[in-house]
Amino acid sequence: MRKRIVAGNWKMNNDLAETEVLLQELKKQVIPEKVSVLVAPSFTNLQHAFESLRDHPIAVAAQTMHQSDHGAFTGEVSAAMLKSVGVKTVILGHSERRAYFDEDNALLAEKVTTALRHEMTVIFCIGETLQERKQGHHVEVVTAQLEEGLFHISENHWQHIVLAYEPVWAIGTGETASPEQAQEMHKEIRNIVASSYSESIADKVSILYGGSVKPENAKEIFGQPDVDGGLIGGASLNARSFMEIVSAFL
Ligand code: 13P
Repeated sequence: MRKRIVAGNWKMNNDLAETEVLLQELKKQVIPEKVSVLVAPSFTNLQHAFESLRDHPIAVAAQTMHQSDHGAFTGEVSAAMLKSVGVKTVILGHSERRAYFDEDNALLAEKVTTALRHEMTVIFCIGETLQERKQGHHVEVVTAQLEEGLFHISENHWQHIVLAYEPVWAIGTGETASPEQAQEMHKEIRNIVASSYSESIADKVSILYGGSVKPENAKEIFGQPDVDGGLIGGASLNARSFMEIVSAFL
């Protein structure tokens, strides 16, 4: 059975006080044992979140990190810095990082290498734009993102990889991929992993869906055989809706 994971990507939302309020609300909820739950606050709130969740099953992830270990990279944060405040998981390749911060597949490959060298778990995001989907290039785009950004890793690194399929046209738009579209792409992604690595690795890797997941649609999406959870944006900013999504597996 693959690991079921629901991660809340808070993006650039919540200052320290708001982070604390949301964490307190989340801590009141019962986390189902069979689901791994993570939240990814902004850099400034990671240490606080980690300490606040110290004896709690919710884990803390970062939203990105730099590929270098240290140096003159004003404004950036390294893997070692994340680990020093308790963060062991990092989201890499989010479409907003790709689109607004010019993170291409080659750069992401470096980030993946660095994160794995620091023994971090990587939630690696892939997904096509609306235009790419309309042109029928979605499988091609996702294949290139995987091949160029991730497939340099060795077989034993796959235990530290989670994939997140996030069609860009579904992020923050209220337009979700249909459960059938999500399943079709997740199956395709698993096949791509199988043909570059092995059936066994493809079968074990958790693939999360992201893009306008809400309590109302989570059950149907998570019910698809190749969907192993979700990467949640907007709905993760509210403890109740986030936990309803987490509970959609039950
Ligand atoms: P929304 O759930 O707000 O569409 O965001 C999805 C996302 O980008 C998660 O990383």
